[in-house]
Amino acid sequence: MRELTLDLGERSYPIRIAPALLAENDWPAFIAGNQACVVTNETIAPLYLESVLARLDGKRVSVVTLPDGEEHKTLSTLNQIFDRLLEDNHTRKTTLIALGGGVVGDMTGFAAACYQRGVPFIQLPTTLLSMVDSSVGGKTGVNHALGKNMIGAFYQPECVIIDTSTLATLPAREFAAGLAEVLKYGLIADLPFYNWLEANWDGLLARDPELLAEAILRSCENKAKVVAEDEREGGRRAILNLGHTFGHAIETATGYGSWLHGEAVATGMLMAARLSADLGWIAEVEVERLASLLKCAQLPLKPPADMTAEQFLSLMARDKKVLDGRLRLVLLRGLGEAIVTDEVDQAQIVGAIEALR
Ligand code: NAD
Ligand code: GLY
Repeated sequence: MRELTLDLGERSYPIRIAPALLAENDWPAFIAGNQACVVTNETIAPLYLESVLARLDGKRVSVVTLPDGEEHKTLSTLNQIFDRLLEDNHTRKTTLIALGGGVVGDMTGFAAACYQRGVPFIQLPTTLLSMVDSSVGGKTGVNHALGKNMIGAFYQPECVIIDTSTLATLPAREFAAGLAEVLKYGLIADLPFYNWLEANWDGLLARDPELLAEAILRSCENKAKVVAEDEREGGRRAILNLGHTFGHAIETATGYGSWLHGEAVATGMLMAARLSADLGWIAEVEVERLASLLKCAQLPLKPPADMTAEQFLSLMARDKKVLDGRLRLVLLRGLGEAIVTDEVDQAQIVGAIEALR
């Protein structure tokens, strides 16, 4: 088993990575009381709920099975969790268990942050994206019709248990979307990892278990380091949003659900790389290198055909990183070195968007 710790003082927690952890690891020891509520969705429940419930024998357990999809990551769906917790008399000693991808994880974490002003929760991520990104670092929340993840809280789990066996059932498109976030860590802060990913890209695409476990570990290590330095995104944590400002605009414009989050991030990262090259910060060949990796993974290289640069700018103006009316972007000062800047001309941003359309 690979293991690391996200170091947040008293709120530090372990991240464990290995096959068969749902069934075999001692993760139920993180449930302090005798009550728990597993939150999952209708796709994941038939696959993995039984093996999770088998580990909770002897406890009073409720299950909430949410509808599947980003379009259900809303306040009204969140109420289904609160309804069940209250109907089943869950107290402040209950533990919520998120079994699923980033949508289930973000919603369960937010429900845990809010229920009776805060109860513990455990992350059992089942998509590659949630294993390398959303389950780690404590960002929780739901979407609003006017913007993604606009309602939420920073709230850390008790542990993150990454059972890599669950990747066997993940659809190819979802798997590729997760790989986009893996690439992100190499681009923003870890050039040796980026080079390693490139060298092992074919094996990763073939879901080689050893390569995947290593890629998940390196991704989690990178994320944990950034979060430990800046838990509430006062500064450096924003680099984890490489490609996200462009990507969120795509997700909002297309309606949540038609583009996967990781797909939108992939195109967004290419736009950020394009802009960084236009500014002379990275070489042209690095943009091509990234495009080639994304293409091999069948990730989109272009934004939606009907999305104009004006539409991008107006949606990007609602980004959480906007400060005093100035758009702040995560760009690459070099390969493996991200910075946050508000000093890029609008014309240059438009130029980078147009270059990819
Ligand atoms: P998702 O949760 O929608 O899961 C993708 C699809 O795969 C769903 O249909 C799901 O039911 C299915 N699925 C999950 N695990 C499966 C498995 N093992 N086998 C078969 N099917 C499976 O999407 P995601 O990509 O995991 O997460 C995206 C969400 O994460 C977005 O809402 C995004 O905003 C959020 N996010 C949050 C953070 C954070 O820091 N909190 C970071 C990145 C992304
Ligand atoms: N996914 C960005 C963050 O966790 O900060």
